[in-house]
Amino acid sequence: MSEFALEVESLVKVYASRGKSPVRAVDRMSFCVPRGIIFGLLGPNGAGKSTLLRMLTTLTRPTEGTAKILGYDAVKKPLEVRKRISSVIQETAVELFLSVKDNLLTYARFQGLDKAMAARRANALIEECRSPRSSWLTRPCSSSMNSPPGWIPS
Ligand SMILES: Nc1ncnc2c1ncn2[C@@H]1O[C@H](COP(=O)(O)OP(=O)(O)OP(=O)(O)O)[C@@H](O)[C@H]1O
Ligand SMILES: [Mg+2]
Repeated sequence: MSEFALEVESLVKVYASRGKSPVRAVDRMSFCVPRGIIFGLLGPNGAGKSTLLRMLTTLTRPTEGTAKILGYDAVKKPLEVRKRISSVIQETAVELFLSVKDNLLTYARFQGLDKAMAARRANALIEECRSPRSSWLTRPCSSSMNSPPGWIPS
């Protein structure tokens, strides 16, 4: 297995739409992130942070360059990448109109668990967390529960 969580090499993303000037959102970006560290990416609005995250999480293809996640190329091995990462992007971290239990069930299905297994795992997790303050588990989420920890290769 690769010693790096992320290996980004000369990564470029150009958004091109008909009738509009192309936008070079990421311009030859290169960096490596070793495994086992917390890495933050800062930049002004429009710097290309979300575009980079979209490429690293296989949601959009780079125009040029390569991105490897835990040694797997985001373009050539997208499924291997998806199996190994968790992605929590800004306001889509949890669905606020769903209870915590419903969120657990939804994300369990995203991860490929069947309905019965998803229910078993969600119930087990809720049991594990049960405490005198556990009533929040079956209520809709508040916005303060929606703060993203960011994007973390597992
Ligand atoms: N789908 C798209 N089509 C065309 N241009 C886009 C698209 N998405 C982003 N851009 C442009 O690409 C550039 C980088 O945008 P991006 O959203 O990646 O930046 P960001 O660093 O995440 O910004 P913010 O801090 O505001 O979230 C900006 O100029 C933006 O307008
Ligand atoms: Mg952004």
